[in-house]
Amino acid sequence: MAIMREVAMMRAVRMNAYGGPDVLAAGEARKPEPGVGEVLIRVCAAGVNPVDWKLRAGYFKERIKRSFPLIPGWDVSGVVEAVGGGVEDFKIGDEVFGKLDFARDGAYAEYVAARARDLARKPRSFDHVHAAAVPLAALTAWQSLFDVGNLYAGQTILIHAAAGGVGHFAVQLAKWKGARVIATVSAANAEFARALGADEVIDYQKTRFEEAAKAVDLVLDTIGGDTQQRSYKSLKRGGTLISTVGITSAPAAAEHGVRCESVMVRSDGKELAQIAELIDAGRLRVDIQTVLPLSQAATAQELSQMGHVRGKIVLKVGD
Ligand SMILES: NC(=O)c1ccc[n+]([C@@H]2O[C@H](COP(=O)([O-])OP(=O)(O)OC[C@H]3O[C@@H](n4cnc5c(N)ncnc54)[C@H](OP(=O)(O)O)[C@@H]3O)[C@@H](O)[C@H]2O)c1
Repeated sequence: MAIMREVAMMRAVRMNAYGGPDVLAAGEARKPEPGVGEVLIRVCAAGVNPVDWKLRAGYFKERIKRSFPLIPGWDVSGVVEAVGGGVEDFKIGDEVFGKLDFARDGAYAEYVAARARDLARKPRSFDHVHAAAVPLAALTAWQSLFDVGNLYAGQTILIHAAAGGVGHFAVQLAKWKGARVIATVSAANAEFARALGADEVIDYQKTRFEEAAKAVDLVLDTIGGDTQQRSYKSLKRGGTLISTVGITSAPAAAEHGVRCESVMVRSDGKELAQIAELIDAGRLRVDIQTVLPLSQAATAQELSQMGHVRGKIVLKVGD
């Protein structure tokens, strides 16, 4: 007689099609199991990023092949519940955080299976809600400034959208490196940017930033379009524009004698461990605008999509 194994289930928010916020549905999903090199995380909090609503809307359907139903949410903080084969760095009960693989189910759920190499120990000084707000945005800032931009002390960097998720980490990381930071924000976020360490703040709604910021070494562009195009006027010859939203202006870069680079964030537990060290040393903070329960994932994505979040939005999932 065949023995039926009971299928373990969990609470999750899933989507069954690309579309608007209404494709997100709360319900039950199969609890995942960790494979070789993976751990199962009991999710305490899931960070919300613009990629969540962009993927939901179908922006990446050619680049990231996914089948439905899928669970979104690629920033997690939680507790290791089970460990797959070959994992040596983590054990059951460890508190971890990380940026998950876009090609796999995410953290809008009670449990998620993750590659151990994508994770790091949660900063001791942060609770799970704060830790979940860090990985994707902080790694993007780190990789843009240091891995691609090779930013060093004494250089000047223009950081667009300095009040946003990526921008608010970029300002702090650039200052930590010893660079001079010029930040674009709206007037309401000017004090916030200064508190993060920005040396100069430009209200992008009142001032044409390219007239106020000249001969900078690096531009971090998280806006694109006209902002990207005008940013070349702020760069010195030989400078670098780094974009998180794709380069649409390569000919202009060549005209101005500057380099332009597109960044696609990588999961990286080792870089994240360095970021956690900075957090615990009091060198890096995260600003959380809104915390919502998992059941309000659609509202969280709508807020993100408006494009004016200060810092981060987080979904609280479990304790
Ligand atoms: N390629 C990658 O791997 C990667 C990784 C991460 C993010 N991204 C992309 O990068 C972009 C930024 O991500 P994020 O998480 O930082 O977004 P976010 O947190 O949603 O950014 C919101 C911020 O943008 C500011 N803002 C809006 N328009 C602005 C403008 N014209 N000039 C200056 N600031 C402006 C807003 O400030 P005000 O309210 O003051 O206007 C707000 O604080 C998104 O498009 C995201 O998808 C890509």
